[in-house]
Amino acid sequence: MPTRRDFLASSTAALAAASIPPHPQPAVQRAASRRARPTVIASSNGLRGVTLAYDQIIAGADTLDAIIAGVNIQELDPDDQSVGLGGLPNKDGVVQLDASCMHGPTKRAGAVGCLEDIATPSLVAKAIMDYTDHIMLVGDDARRFAIEMGFTPQNLLTEKTRQDWLRWRARLNAGDAYLDYDGDVDIKFTTGTINMNAVNSAGDLSSVTTTSGMGWKVPGRVGDSPIIGAGQYCDNSVGAAGSTGRGEANIKVCGGFLTVEFMRQGLAPQAACLKTLERVVAMTESRLLDERGRPTFNLEFYAVHKDGRYGAAALYSGSEFAVCDARGPRIEKSAFLYET
Ligand code: GLY
Repeated sequence: MPTRRDFLASSTAALAAASIPPHPQPAVQRAASRRARPTVIASSNGLRGVTLAYDQIIAGADTLDAIIAGVNIQELDPDDQSVGLGGLPNKDGVVQLDASCMHGPTKRAGAVGCLEDIATPSLVAKAIMDYTDHIMLVGDDARRFAIEMGFTPQNLLTEKTRQDWLRWRARLNAGDAYLDYDGDVDIKFTTGTINMNAVNSAGDLSSVTTTSGMGWKVPGRVGDSPIIGAGQYCDNSVGAAGSTGRGEANIKVCGGFLTVEFMRQGLAPQAACLKTLERVVAMTESRLLDERGRPTFNLEFYAVHKDGRYGAAALYSGSEFAVCDARGPRIEKSAFLYET
């Protein structure tokens, strides 16, 4: 089980040395474990992350520690505008982050919503899981908790992201007080995110999702990523699954949970992701459907079974995912419901 020392060691990129009190950890409840194929799956921006996480798992690290180390790479990368440092801000130019995680063997979960100034919300979600009797903290109080835990606040708005926000704002309304910017804004709208799920050789699973959410969102908006059962879900007796894309569509179907439930019913991971997407389409309001009844947004699911099988699917063709197992790290194509 992770000790205080382990937690601090795994968090050195984000945590200053802090006085964190010792805390009791629940015992791992392990069913008679069958051997599994160690596997880490993530959204396509997680290729470096799945490589690191897989290596750590093979070296004996806990699956949650390993995948959080994996997503930390993107959270701390100023060039990834979908998560953490450099993530796209809300409409007021403020970066607000969401994340959640689940640890299969101990049946624990943690989540944080609308967090400002802390680059690694995945680690804050884990700290909430490890050090409180709660599952989710939000907003200013979550920020204060993180700082008390030793996380260092910083400005998350990089110069590139600030320039994108200024250009987006300048194109908002032709008649407003800002002169129109007539060049391209590379990123007009995004729901970029990183989700990562892993299983080790003992069949123990974990999942994590972290994001800066929808670019230019209404301040205070919380997406699917910090919602346990939507942005990610993990049941140590079945598998783990998570999502990227339009969070509002995922929240309504509890997509992480639903995908794991479909695996519990016997579907393979890819088939489970596709069946969840069919539910998403069925639950889409008419204003978000095109003339052919197809959603006007994309949404992706990623899943790993307890035995190491994995799969991913998106609403539209062209999506990819990252995976690492004994065959090494690679990008594969996701299944899909519709050709673009
Ligand atoms: N799936 C990320 C978000 O909608 O916030």
